[in-house]
Amino acid sequence: MNLMLKTSSASADIPSYTPAGNECALFETAWTRQLPLLLKGPTGCGKTRFVSHMAAKLGVPLSTVSCHDDLAAADLTGRYLLKGGDTVWVDGPLTRAVREGGICYLDEVVEARKDVAVVLHPLTDDRRILPLERTGEELEAPPGFMLVVSYNPGYQNLLKTLKPSTRQRFVAIEFDFLPKEQEIAVVSAESGLPESRVAALVELARKLRALKGHDLEEGVSTRLLVYCASLIDAGLPIREAVRSAMIEPLTDEPDVRVGLLEVADAVIR
Ligand SMILES: Nc1ncnc2c1ncn2[C@@H]1O[C@H](COP(=O)(O)OP(=O)(O)OP(=O)(O)O)[C@@H](O)[C@H]1O
Ligand SMILES: [Mg+2]
Repeated sequence: MNLMLKTSSASADIPSYTPAGNECALFETAWTRQLPLLLKGPTGCGKTRFVSHMAAKLGVPLSTVSCHDDLAAADLTGRYLLKGGDTVWVDGPLTRAVREGGICYLDEVVEARKDVAVVLHPLTDDRRILPLERTGEELEAPPGFMLVVSYNPGYQNLLKTLKPSTRQRFVAIEFDFLPKEQEIAVVSAESGLPESRVAALVELARKLRALKGHDLEEGVSTRLLVYCASLIDAGLPIREAVRSAMIEPLTDEPDVRVGLLEVADAVIR
């Protein structure tokens, strides 16, 4: 496994990512020092983009697993499957990454079943091993293996947070939305809409984010801002785009929607 960094970050095949702080350097250091990484932050703030950016920059294969409440340890490690009358072992994505090296990214890890933590624990302390009970193997993670997990601490219920014994196995980075000027630049670059026209949308997003916790579970994400700007860039009237991409996805409550539309009308004219 080549641990050297690819030099050009402007390369076309590296997904673009605007850092908010020193997270790129931290990721690189964690990679070099073989430390697992935990990313937390609100939906649509750039966690997934950050991981794909870093994997491409480091020139490391990335395998992403979106966790859900039915995801069990065997979905990550592998299982015996029937193939033409024979029973053959098929590696899961985590086992494959441990065997071959690369970054294994478990998105929304708190959603997964409890037995997943059992698999992750020996892999995320200094042993760096993956015991495969079913095959009797015990795989040692090579230097080119890294585990990255992410979750959104906001909307999980209390039962769905990580246990301290899991959480304390990771170097953690907290994500938030970018500062205003940088977010305008990102939304403009992602959507094609000029910065001068994106500015008011970001202004509105920041106002709506301030309402989080009162009427809203989550504020407008950068993702929704990109959607909204793309709709406008494609010719949709601004009010319609704002309604469809920045208001409707936030709430199902008619009263709250009316309130949000009033905020939008005051900002977007
Ligand atoms: N720092 C950033 N640099 C470049 N693009 C960004 C950045 N932050 C957000 N974006 C844009 O926002 C979109 C959503 O980001 P992303 O999918 O990474 O969010 P996420 O944090 O993984 O959300 P979720 O928790 O819902 O999975 C990206 O596709 C990209 O267009
Ligand atoms: Mg994501």
